[in-house]
Amino acid sequence: MVHPFDHPQIRYVQSIDELITAPMRDGVNAICWQREIKGDFSNILEHLQPERGITTWEREQLLALPLTNEGKMAVEFMLRDQEQLRIHGIDPAIDSINGYIGHDEQELMRTDVCSFHVDRATDEAYTYLCTYSGASSIGVRNEDVILRAKVPSVRAALLADFGGEDDETFLEYLTENFFDLHYDALPGARTFSFGVGHLWRIAIDYPGCPVPPCIHRAPDPVKGQAPRMILIG
Ligand SMILES: [Fe+2]
Repeated sequence: MVHPFDHPQIRYVQSIDELITAPMRDGVNAICWQREIKGDFSNILEHLQPERGITTWEREQLLALPLTNEGKMAVEFMLRDQEQLRIHGIDPAIDSINGYIGHDEQELMRTDVCSFHVDRATDEAYTYLCTYSGASSIGVRNEDVILRAKVPSVRAALLADFGGEDDETFLEYLTENFFDLHYDALPGARTFSFGVGHLWRIAIDYPGCPVPPCIHRAPDPVKGQAPRMILIG
């Protein structure tokens, strides 16, 4: 299969077992199992009529929909991913995303999922991600970003809010408020699309992670655009 992009951070695999077990090393922080998507996802969305925001759909709800054969194929495609990951102890959700609620209410610094960020855990963990329908997530090279809290104007605003010195306690304040997870892309930053149908496992920030975490973001919602269907876990 031809890879859509040549990227030093991405490794391509051929199966779910490889996706789950491939080591993250030598700077590789995103593993991609490329697939050709099967089924009619718009048929699912017609019946789900998802509300604004993020809605998680259970297996039973999806199986109960009166779908066309193509629609059923799409449901099977998603549920197979979910089942296979569950066998390996990962419990991803199947979500529809119909815009976001509360995105415009961040005064101090953006910390929403449409802003470049890393995920974090206290123990070894990874994020599994697939876009089945709609705009896909976006990644960026680690060397092409700056921690948003290090942008001078942002840092000044954060320090003013914190009301103290730029010291250890301030760093704790950044962590507690997730301000240390978000990044700005530098001019000319090399971004890449996660594409539709491919299942990804990306590195997240946990103590001892051998590679830099994968910096990524959700696509900006576009008014009037159909909701997205994704797997995330
Ligand atoms: Fe994320």
